[in-house]
Amino acid sequence: MAKEKILITAALPYANGNIHLGHLSGAYLPADIFARFNRLKGNDVLFLCGSDEHGVPITISADKEKVSPNVIIDRYHESNGKAFDKFGMSFDIYSRTSIDIHHETAKEFFLDFYSRGLLKEKKSFQFYDEKAGMFLPDRYVEGICPNCGYEQARSDECENCGALYEPSELKNPVSKVSGQTPVLKETSHWYFPLGDYQERLEEYVNGSNRNFGWKENVMQYCRGWFKSGLQDRAITRDIDWGIKVPLNDAEGKVIYVWFEAVLGYISAAKELADKKKMPALWRDYWQDKNTRYVAFIGKDNVVFHCIIFPAILMAWNDGGKDQYILPENVPANEFLNFEGRKFSKSRNWGIDVEEFLNIFAADPLRYTLAANLPETRDTDFYWKEFQARNNSELADILGNFINRTFTFVHKHFNGEVPQAAELLEIDKQMLRLREEFPAKISDYFEKYRLRDGVQEIMNLARAGNKYFNDSEPWKTVKSDKNRCGTTLNICLNTIYTLAELFYPVIPFSSEKIFAMLNSEKTGWDECGKYSLPAGHRLNRTEIIFPKIEDDIVDKQINKLGIAEQPVPEEEKISIEDFNKIQLKTAKVIHAEKIPGSDKLLKLKVQIGDQERQIVAGVALAYKPEEITGKTIVVVANLKPAKLMGQESNGMLLAAHSKAGLKVLFLDDNVESGAGIK
Ligand code: 2FM
Ligand code: ZN
Repeated sequence: MAKEKILITAALPYANGNIHLGHLSGAYLPADIFARFNRLKGNDVLFLCGSDEHGVPITISADKEKVSPNVIIDRYHESNGKAFDKFGMSFDIYSRTSIDIHHETAKEFFLDFYSRGLLKEKKSFQFYDEKAGMFLPDRYVEGICPNCGYEQARSDECENCGALYEPSELKNPVSKVSGQTPVLKETSHWYFPLGDYQERLEEYVNGSNRNFGWKENVMQYCRGWFKSGLQDRAITRDIDWGIKVPLNDAEGKVIYVWFEAVLGYISAAKELADKKKMPALWRDYWQDKNTRYVAFIGKDNVVFHCIIFPAILMAWNDGGKDQYILPENVPANEFLNFEGRKFSKSRNWGIDVEEFLNIFAADPLRYTLAANLPETRDTDFYWKEFQARNNSELADILGNFINRTFTFVHKHFNGEVPQAAELLEIDKQMLRLREEFPAKISDYFEKYRLRDGVQEIMNLARAGNKYFNDSEPWKTVKSDKNRCGTTLNICLNTIYTLAELFYPVIPFSSEKIFAMLNSEKTGWDECGKYSLPAGHRLNRTEIIFPKIEDDIVDKQINKLGIAEQPVPEEEKISIEDFNKIQLKTAKVIHAEKIPGSDKLLKLKVQIGDQERQIVAGVALAYKPEEITGKTIVVVANLKPAKLMGQESNGMLLAAHSKAGLKVLFLDDNVESGAGIK
């Protein structure tokens, strides 16, 4: 098959925080699997990524820490680059948008559009924080979405329903800088006429790609956008961090981060070309219509990659200069959640890649994420699933097949590949299977069904184990050594195929398997047919997939949700707020279970001379007699509520500790009804 030129990009992460597992599942791991797979196919791959270093997300982080944005971007560019490296991302370059090359690229596009009269300068009303003395772009303002009513919508975009609107349409706006209601103040910006491209974009999205259709989830987002009609988009902003608008009368204005970030993919290729001292190299990919361009992103980036970026490239190409290629496909993934909830740094829900890889190897993570990619719907990472994928699949299926084969060959065949003698039907079947596998997996990978492809590769290891069992080499080694040698020869060659097919997914382990085989990759299309020569010496066996013990995983689970982070500003309460809560000591004089409920206990408590009924969710942790007679702390001024038909007049305090729910008991000599401060 003719070799192809493939340009692969993975969304440029903002350099204002550590990447977490959700980012890996959304864009980076799929991109890396696809890049490695294509390299094995012999295709000419250019794989680009880098840090997105402008825009409000960076300035918000800098403001919070009271440092300059440069401090933030340098810190996270470095740490994310290292984390990606440890995770095995095989980028050809990890660039960044603060470099001069990128500033030049962005300005070149802006000025080209400007000089051709494409950009319209328009006055509009934007939110302005009078207390802070600044315009409030995007995420600095929060309010109610005019489309769906979501209460934390941004000034011009709702992350809940995806709607884009004018700031003036946002209801109940609040400045995130000062907490005050911002005013609308007139300012002028340059607008890109996105609406003019709607027809061509629809045609492009519906059918421009050469190979396979776009994913249904991506198409749905695009159809939604087209349905609401594309509008002119402001491509400048009133902030001072970013790429300065290259015009005379544009003091204090920068190019909108999304306009320039997507161009960062082009700049990354330019930087690489410069580094390699082959200045025109980037054009071989970006400006050769035979290049297939695939852009990997998460679902929150769809509009920018499927609509805005292609429109920018179309607009450039209309100018008649060197022509850029457009993405052939944008296989965006949905989101990965963590143990049933969204990742949240402030709630300590989730784990950064860097921290993860300080404890565990990269491949078990790569395999777990790959086998559960959110390709068609949101999925979850569960610690127990991670442990099970490692222990029951990587170790017990793949690792076991490798280990038993190698141990046997070292013990009975002097560590050399045995000769295959006469083939029986069982052998032929196994050989046919391993020969068919590369094409089968290609088919999945080329259709961006990476999750199915990865799960299917493990089926070849399952088949290998079954073949080993059915062939009973531990018997034939005594009764028919040629037969035994044939079995082991086929097992070793199947391991060879597995090492290559698994390479895009678990590259570190795959390299170890090749080292044990004392051999190298042949390329994807050959690896199902290639045979290790009889007599070829194997290297020593090592355990490639050690098991992960319960305690190490349990430790991670127990850490979840226990906030190690400072409490976010918006969650802090004042002393006046706190003083509203009347905490009192109380004595439990009676406790009983509530019929029909496993969780609730009905308590009669004495607060000073008052008797009250409180219903508390402590029945799983305490028997009625364990709590009766104890002195506890209650919120005495809570409005009464009904639980399971029982009135509850107050609430007791208990800790959600690692050891389970623990009610706060006081010394019995503290009298009931005492106030707590
Ligand atoms: O969502 C994000 O993290 C963006 N920084 C992605 C940018 S992708 C491209 F435009 F650079
Ligand atoms: Zn909305």
